[in-house]
Amino acid sequence: MTARTLREFLADPNETGDAAPRDLAILIEAISDSCRTISYLVSRGALAGVLGSAGTGNVQGEEQKQLDILANDELMAMAKASGVVAAAASEEEEEARTISPGAPYLLLFDPLDGSSNVEVNVSIGTIFSILPAAAGEGAAPFLQPGRNQSAAGYCVYGPQTTLVLTLGNGVAAFTMDPPTGQFVQTAAKIQIPERTKEFAINMSNMRHWADPVRAYVDECLAGETGPRAKNFNMRWIASMVADVHRVLTRGGVFMYPWDKREPNKPGKLRLMYEANPMSLLVEQAVGKSFDGQHQILDIQPAGLHQRVSVMLGSREEVELLEKKHAG
Ligand code: AHG
Ligand code: MN
Ligand code: MN
Repeated sequence: MTARTLREFLADPNETGDAAPRDLAILIEAISDSCRTISYLVSRGALAGVLGSAGTGNVQGEEQKQLDILANDELMAMAKASGVVAAAASEEEEEARTISPGAPYLLLFDPLDGSSNVEVNVSIGTIFSILPAAAGEGAAPFLQPGRNQSAAGYCVYGPQTTLVLTLGNGVAAFTMDPPTGQFVQTAAKIQIPERTKEFAINMSNMRHWADPVRAYVDECLAGETGPRAKNFNMRWIASMVADVHRVLTRGGVFMYPWDKREPNKPGKLRLMYEANPMSLLVEQAVGKSFDGQHQILDIQPAGLHQRVSVMLGSREEVELLEKKHAG
C-alpha cells in the first residue's frame, strides 16, 4: 500500500477517483487537527499540568478530569471554526450547541474516552460521530439511528496516536508521525477476524450480569474441555477506544452489557457518543454489534445522553451472544 496522508485519502478514499464530499473532508481534517492537539497535551501529561480532576461533574454525574474539559473545548472550538457543523453535542455537555445554522453536518463526540486511565498512563482516546444535519431544535436533529452516520471514528492516544475512520465504505487507519504531525495511512479495509479466542468484559461485575451474558462467559472460561473446545484469553483496558482498537486489530469480543447494579439503566456506555460510532466501525469491518435485542445501529435514539448495553466484535461471538439472548 502506498503511504497516503489523511488529506490524500479524503481526496480519493476508495481509490476509484471519487473524493469524499468536500464538507465532510473539511470536517474530518479539522477533527484530526484537534486530535493532534489533544495527543500533544496527553503526551505531556504532568509537564503540561493537565492531569487530575477538574473538581466538576458532567451531565451524567461523573467526575470530570481537566483533560475531559480541555479536549471538549478544543473540539467545540474546531467545530465552530470548520464552518461545516450545524450543531454539536458532547458527552460532557448537557445540551447540544448550535454552531453554524444551515451547515451540512451534526457532530457528536466523547472528547476523552477512558479518562480514568489518564493518570496511570494507559491508552485513552477521542470518539466522534458525524450525522447529516436535520430539521429541528436542540437535541431533536441528533436523534437519528446510527445507520444514518455519514462518518465515524476514533483517535487512540497510546504508544502511537492512531486515527481509525469509516466513511461508510470500509475502515482505514492513520498513524500520526510525530516529527511532522501528519496522519499517514497505515491500514486499509480493516476486517475483524470472524473467529476469536479473546473476550473483554469487566469481570468484577460478574455477579450482576444477566443470565445470557453469564452463560456465554462461563463457556469461554470452561476452555478446551468445555462446549467451545478452546481456551480463551481475557483483556480489559477500561478505555473503550483501546479495547475496540484491539478488537479491530486482532479480533475479539467487547462487552459492556446491562447488569443488575442499576437495573433501570440500560447500560453504562452512551449510544450517541460511544456505541453508535464504534458499531459503524465494527460493522464496516465485517463484525457485529448488538445490545441484547437489536443491532445497535438500528436503535431509534430517544435522548442525547441515552445509555445502551453493548456487545460487539468478531461475528461468530456476537452471533453466539445473540442466540443466548434469544433464549
Ligand atoms: P469515559 O471515560 O468516557 O467516561 O468512558 C469510560 C468507559 C469506557 O471507556 C470503558 O469501556 C468503561 O467506561 C470502563 O468502565 P469500568 O471502569 O466500569 O470497567
Ligand atoms: Mn467514554
Ligand atoms: Mn469521556
